[in-house]
Order: sequence, then structure tokens, then C-alpha cells
Amino acid sequence: MPQFEPTIISFLCNWCAYAGADLAGTSRLQYPPNIRIIRIMCSGRVDPIFILEAFKSGADGVLVAGCHPPSDCHYLSGNLEAQKRILLLKKILLQLGIEPERLRLEWISASESEKFAAVVRDMVMKLKRLGPSPIKNGDIRAT
Ligand code: FES
Repeated sequence: MPQFEPTIISFLCNWCAYAGADLAGTSRLQYPPNIRIIRIMCSGRVDPIFILEAFKSGADGVLVAGCHPPSDCHYLSGNLEAQKRILLLKKILLQLGIEPERLRLEWISASESEKFAAVVRDMVMKLKRLGPSPIKNGDIRAT
């Protein structure tokens, strides 16, 4: 039986996390190919609906990554807004029967390519332990 390979949808802020991921690529750092990257202008732009839609579409995990707080965000407080939303969303996920650990928020600067690769490796390892998303598994019906 083939080993479960989780799918991670990630929303990476253009200015920090996306640049960090780009640097990981150009530096040829090794990280699992399980991640699908969506570039956004700021982590504060990630509407909770985007995250719920990602889970509904079959993601086993969702990563949101942006600039380090408190002051690296290029739009002043987008990262802090994202932090508040993610905390709230984790509670909603729990109510829906989705393990909150499937949603992760990280601060990754443009120079932190090693951190980006480490976060992806760690997330893949933890998701493998959790198994497929309950929505994907059919335990929860996404309507
Ligand atoms: Fe990167 Fe706001 S611009 S988190």
C-alpha cells in the first residue's frame, strides 16, 4: 500500500515568506514536494474562506506564512490581523471536526530559506502522523 502523502496548500506573503521560499529553491534546499504555493501580497489578505475552501478542496494541511511581527509587515499590521484570524479559525476547525494542527501560521523572512524548508518538512511529518484530512477521508461532508 502506498504511503500517504499529504497535500499542503500554502498562502505566502510576497515580501517575506514567498521570497524565503524562492531563496530555498534557488539555494537548492531540499524539502518535500507536498506543498502548493499561492502567492499573496500580505498574510492579512488571507480570508478565512480561502482556508476553508482549501480544506474543502482536499488539502490535508494549510500553511499561512508572512512577515515577522510586530513591524516587518509591509502593510503595517496585516500579519497581526492574520494571527488573530488564524487563532479564531483553529477554534472553528475544531468545531468542524478538523484537527487545528492542520492549520499553521509561520513568520518567515526573505532570508529564512532554511526555516521555510524546515517548516515544510515538519508539517509534512506531522500531517503524515495525522493521516488524510477528515473531509478528504469522507468523515466530514463539505457542502
Ligand atoms: Fe508580509 Fe504583511 S506584507 S505579512
